[in-house]
Amino acid sequence: MDEIRDRIVARHLSMDDLESEATLRPKWLNEYIGQEKAKEKLDIFIQAAKGRSESLDHVLLYGPPGLGKTTLANIIANEMGVNIRVTSGPAIERPGDLASILTNLSDDDVLFIDEIHRINRTVEEVLYPAMEDFALDIIIGKGPSARSVRLDLSRFTLIGATTRAGLLTSPLRDRFGVMLNLDLYDIESLTEIVTRSAGILNIDISPMGAYEIAKRSRGTPRIANRLLKRVRDYAQVIGNGVIDEETANKGLEILEVDRLGLDAVDRKLILALIDNFRGRPVGIETLAAATGEERGTIEDVYEPYLLQIGFLNRTPRGRMVTEKAYKHFNRPYPNE
Ligand SMILES: Nc1ncnc2c1ncn2[C@@H]1O[C@H](COP(=O)(O)OP(=O)(O)O)[C@@H](O)[C@H]1O
Ligand SMILES: [Mg+2]
Repeated sequence: MDEIRDRIVARHLSMDDLESEATLRPKWLNEYIGQEKAKEKLDIFIQAAKGRSESLDHVLLYGPPGLGKTTLANIIANEMGVNIRVTSGPAIERPGDLASILTNLSDDDVLFIDEIHRINRTVEEVLYPAMEDFALDIIIGKGPSARSVRLDLSRFTLIGATTRAGLLTSPLRDRFGVMLNLDLYDIESLTEIVTRSAGILNIDISPMGAYEIAKRSRGTPRIANRLLKRVRDYAQVIGNGVIDEETANKGLEILEVDRLGLDAVDRKLILALIDNFRGRPVGIETLAAATGEERGTIEDVYEPYLLQIGFLNRTPRGRMVTEKAYKHFNRPYPNE
């Protein structure tokens, strides 16, 4: 059951998601729910670029997995009325691979590089002149007779997505004109997303049913859509096919998603802090060692949500569990 539950609340893509992501993914900015700050900025930049008939400045999208970075990259290309070419940091192995992608772009095209923090250094160096001067520097010949030739590229827009803006080198980060930070979604926005997705998938759902699913989605649209589909299965097999508050609750209970959407790893992290460290502040490395989870995964995937629901505080001395979390897990709060 652990395995099934892990799969359900995991933020990363599964095969099952891939099918429906295409249908559920908003295509235009006005269908993109929430993230008002990011949307407002983008809307202005897009209108301004179109007004001047120019390509859009390079955009960096950052935030935890499943929040809509890929979706937004596609929306930007749609709104600009241009083509999008999609690749990812780890997929570009050599400078030559990137060079061939770049030389095949047309004016105003979007090049989307997912997981851009994982691009290797020699490839990254090709990006600098490409982003700044729309040029490619090619070395011809070897040894003392080698010389550098500059090739002009089309005026493309680079959109980079990353879960860790902090891992980008500063020369790369500095070359993005627009930086958009995506935050975890609030429950109202997630309720809207669940309702919208249910409409597209022809699922009968009540407002309270949508709200229950939203509440347990860890602030993440990808998880909201996944829970919706699993609860639909439950409603279809056990109930009358309609997702109301009760069906949603029962379905989610069977999926072992607790009422805050916490999964096994969340529980393990919080309980390690409570039981092993008795309320003392704990450094991230210590926490990683104590739980056997990777530091990066804790920081990217688990911590943001635990911070958002107020279960965890980040202090200069380390991570601390809050009284709220002690209550949730029925542990006495240490009064010092
Ligand atoms: N703002 C949004 N409004 C509606 N649905 C969204 C929104 N953001 C994300 N989604 C849904 O969540 C899914 C995951 O988003 P995605 O763009 O793949 O996330 P990321 O690239 O950040 O991991 C999308 O397929 C889409 O259905
Ligand atoms: Mg993505």
